This record gives sequence, C-alpha cells and structure tokens, in this order.
Amino acid sequence: MCGIFGIIAKKSDVAKKLLIIGKRLAYRGYDSAGLAVYKDGVIDLRKDVGTIDYVIESLKLAEMKGNIGIGQLRWSTFGKPSKINAQPHFDCDGDMIGAHNGNIISYYETKENLEKEGHNIISQNDGEICVHAIEKHYDKEQDMIKAIIGGIAEMEGAFAFVTYHKDSPEKLYAVKMGSSLVIGLGEEETYIASDLPSILPLTKKFVPLNDGEIVELTADSYRIFSVKDGSEITRESRISDLSAEDAVKGDFDYFLTKEIYEQVDATEKLAYGLESDVLDSLVEKLAKADKVFLIGCGSSLNACNVGSYYLNNVAGVLAIPVIGGRFFEEYKDYDPGDTTAMLCVSQSGETKDIINTINFAKPKGYHILGMVNVPGSTVERMSEAYAYIGAGIERSVPATKTYTNQVLLFLILAARVGHAKGKLSDKDFESLKDEIHNLSKLVEVTVKNSDERAKKIAKELSKINAMSLLGYGVTHGVALEGALKIREINYIAAEAMYSSEFKHGPLSIVSDGYPVIYVVAPNDKYYVISHISEVECREGRPIVIAEHIDGLDKYVQEEDYFEIPKSSQLISPILAVIPLQLLALYMSIERGINPDYPRNLSKTLTVD
Ligand code: F6R
Repeated sequence: MCGIFGIIAKKSDVAKKLLIIGKRLAYRGYDSAGLAVYKDGVIDLRKDVGTIDYVIESLKLAEMKGNIGIGQLRWSTFGKPSKINAQPHFDCDGDMIGAHNGNIISYYETKENLEKEGHNIISQNDGEICVHAIEKHYDKEQDMIKAIIGGIAEMEGAFAFVTYHKDSPEKLYAVKMGSSLVIGLGEEETYIASDLPSILPLTKKFVPLNDGEIVELTADSYRIFSVKDGSEITRESRISDLSAEDAVKGDFDYFLTKEIYEQVDATEKLAYGLESDVLDSLVEKLAKADKVFLIGCGSSLNACNVGSYYLNNVAGVLAIPVIGGRFFEEYKDYDPGDTTAMLCVSQSGETKDIINTINFAKPKGYHILGMVNVPGSTVERMSEAYAYIGAGIERSVPATKTYTNQVLLFLILAARVGHAKGKLSDKDFESLKDEIHNLSKLVEVTVKNSDERAKKIAKELSKINAMSLLGYGVTHGVALEGALKIREINYIAAEAMYSSEFKHGPLSIVSDGYPVIYVVAPNDKYYVISHISEVECREGRPIVIAEHIDGLDKYVQEEDYFEIPKSSQLISPILAVIPLQLLALYMSIERGINPDYPRNLSKTLTVD
C-alpha cells in the first residue's frame, strides 16, 4: 500500500531525513517513489518507477536541498506504474505539490468535473485529483485549511493526503480521511507519515490523528482542525515505547526469519503483563459481556479462531469469530442489546475492513474493544477499552510474531476473565499462569528444534504445488494460519480445514505422496488418529506437528514428525504454529521468493 511522508524543518536538510522515513515505509509494498523539496521559490520534484534505492541513486534524491519536503511510495491502483503516475503531483501552475495514500473512488467523476473547469490533469493517478481539487478551492479562498475542506468535498474515497504551497513554504499540511497518518515532533522539525514506526529513528514523540482531521505543521508546532467545520482540536503528544532497532534485520537474511526467532522475546514480554492493571478495563468489559464477536482479517482472523476456543472454554464467554469484511452483511439486522461486545483484532489497527465494521457496529450499541500492535492506531482510538499485543515492530509482510502474541493475549484475557467470573478456580488460574510464564522457554526450544527439520522438508515440499493442513478444536486456527503463511510466500494452493471435514470431499485429492499436515493438540490424539490413517492408507504423506503422543508415530515417517515440547491443550497451539512458519519460510527461499515482500501484497490494507 502507498506510504506518504513529509518534513518541515528549520534547517535545509530534509531530503536525507525524508529518505529515512521513506525506506521504512517500503515494507508496505510499492512500485514507484518520489520526493518534492522546496528551496528559494522552487519546488524540485523527482520521481520514477523502481525500488527506492534505484530511484534515490538514479535521481540523486539525497542531494536535494530544502527545509520543507514531501515524499510518496506508490502502490498502483489507479494508473499503471509509470513516471507520470508516480507521486507527488503538481497543481496546474506548479505552485502546490501533493501526494496521497488510499483510493479516490470518485476518481473518474471528480476528474471529469475538474477538467470541465479547466484543470490540466496529466496522469491517470487519483493522487493528482486531490491536488487539483484543493487547488480549485485555494484559488478562491487563498487559505490552505479552507481549500483542503473544499477539495475534500469534491471527492469520495478513503485516503490521506500531504501537501504544501509556495505561498506559505513554512507550513506543511495533511489530512486524514480513512488512511493512516501520524504526526512526529522532533527538535526544530516536524514530521508527518503513514505510520509511526517509520519516524522512530527521528523521534519517539508523536500525535495520533483521527479521520476527518487536517493538520498544519511548522518546524516547531502542530495544529489540528476538523474537516467538518474547520474548528481547532486540541490533542497532547505521546511518547512511543516502540524501538526503532526492531525494524532492522541485524544478522538475519530476512525480516521474516528474525521475526520468527523474536517470538521468544515477544511472548516473554507479553507474559509479564499477565497481572498488569493495563488489562483491567478490557477484562472487566469482557467479563460483563454475554457474547463477543471477534473481528479480524487474515492472520488476525486466524488468531481470533484460536481465541474463540479460549474465551468459550476458559472464560465462559460466548465468542464468535467473524471475518472483518463480512460482519456488516451477515449481522445487519442483529440487535446487540447492551451486553454484546466486539473485540477488534488488528496488528496495524488500520485495516479498512475492521474500521468499516466498527463504524457500522458502534452506533448500534456494540461495546467496541481493541487488540492492536501499533499504539495510537485508529482501532485503538475507536475502542472503549484496548490492549497492546506488544510484539514490537513487524516489518515482514507476513505476520508471525504479531499472530503469536495475539493468540497469547487471548489466552491471558481468557484466564483473567475466567478467574474473575469464578469459572477458573484459584488453583487452576495459578497453574495456567505458571504455564504462561514458562511459555517463552518452550517457544525457544520449538524454534531451535524445528529449524533444521523445516529446512529439510522444505526442500521436498518446495517442488509441490498443493497441500492440505488440518486442525481440530484449538488447533484449527493454527492450520488456517499455517496454510495462509505457505500460500502467501510460496504462491501455491495450501488449503486448511477442520480435520473431520477432510473426508467429506477433499480426501479424493490424496494419492501418491500428497502432503497433509496435521496439527494435533495433546488431548485430541483419539480423534485425529483415524483422520491421519485415512491419508496414510491412500498413499498420501501425513506430516504431523504435535508433542510426543504415544502411538501417533506409527502413522508418520520419523522425519515427518515435528515434535514440539510437552505442554498442555491450551499452550500447544502457540508452539505448533512455529514449525509451520519455518516451513513456509524455507519453502519460499527454496523457490527463490523473497519471503519479506511477497508479490501483490502490502502490510497494511487501508482500502476496501
Ligand atoms: C498475513 C497477514 C495479513 C494480515 C491482515 C490483517 O500474513 O499479515 O493477512 O493479518 O491483512 O492485518 P491487521 O492485523 O493489520 O489488521
């Protein structure tokens, strides 16, 4: 997805710093890059198709001089990747420059209207429409805030936009209308960017923004205005505890490898928070709810699948996982009363499907709760109560440590709610607490023990273009997550389902070494043995992920058994996902794919 960014500073060295931010937004996915820096009455615009390193090198972006500048990384939606469609864009007379992130769905209509009024639109990109729509109002108002308000009224869509005008080169403007955007406050310089991690090497001081807000930045101040009526909004800055170092590869070849290994630390840190009062408000709201919808997309949805098992079985709360984009169709006539909660699970806290669901559900009376990784994100700010999954920055497009910490946070919440409601005795709560505190050691053993085996099996599986993954009960979500990881970075068909469903049709695919991966929790041996033998006796290749379970090894070749450490029914799914992440990673490397940046994907999906 596109990334936008800008800096206004007292010194004339913004280009190098813009590139620091731009490089850190690259993980979102892009095909073109550009910068526009102002000095002495001239806006210097340089942009092209290609990697950010290529564009920096070929257009000498680091040598640009000026104390105000904006940049953009473009992921094509309107208009093919080309120099002219790359952003930023000028207005008609070259006085104003702007770049957007998101989609203007009224693109054709708004473009036609602007052209009829004489605007000279030269690209096929919707970002250029934003510049001209604002230009139209600036020509009348001679005031950037009024011009932005007027321009926005000309367009429909979900986006964020950053701009400046030669008339006021000491001010940078931006507006948030559905895509993520955050202000950063430095020493005599102020930043704006699509996400917080991108500005962390420059500052930890940030100001979150809500949809419908315009910002006016100078080198040492920020003001926020409402798009509705131009009124000023006061908001304090905050200090982020995310670390900029989280976002470098270190000794690892890929962010994905590093992030799989970081699960040891991430689970340890989160487990410390088990008794923390920061969870009190969320625990209290969940304990009061008689029903909770768990809303997520992709990996976060898979975490909800395991989470619903925990909440139903440990906390005694009826929990129903629902796909982010499905809720408002499926439950449009449902009356939530006063006791229905909606727990929105999102690493980025910016996913459009989730935000649409919250916008639909909030006015109906659902209690909106949040589980996010990025502090200050939109989902956090729309929630009555929320918790951080505390996984640190995740740079690789595929989710790994954030998925695992989401599942662990579900277990922590279920334990706290179950205990608060008396469903879990003091003794059982204490013993579950001990298991949670001990988890990171088991994660460490699992990563180490699975690595070599995953590498070995990956060599063979990387030649295969289809496989099935099966889970049962608490491991169903793990199978779904494993299949998503394998599909996402191997471009092959990997389907996941409940293991009892396999015989109802999919079994016909099995012959001649077809791989079927079973994820088995300790108590489920008796249910899955027959499922595994159905595959084994049809010449399929069962691969098992489970702790040592007597008798299970009879159905699987020794080298196809990923033995995870002994734990319990509730802990085992958190360990079992690790061999699948490693398998997906090594298969991808075998295929010559960069697992950090799979084609067609982006980390944060702020569009419908
Ligand atoms: C898969 C993956 C995606 C995200 C999904 C939701 O590896 O990363 O499926 O899980 O786009 O994103 P968030 O959690 O930011 O809402």
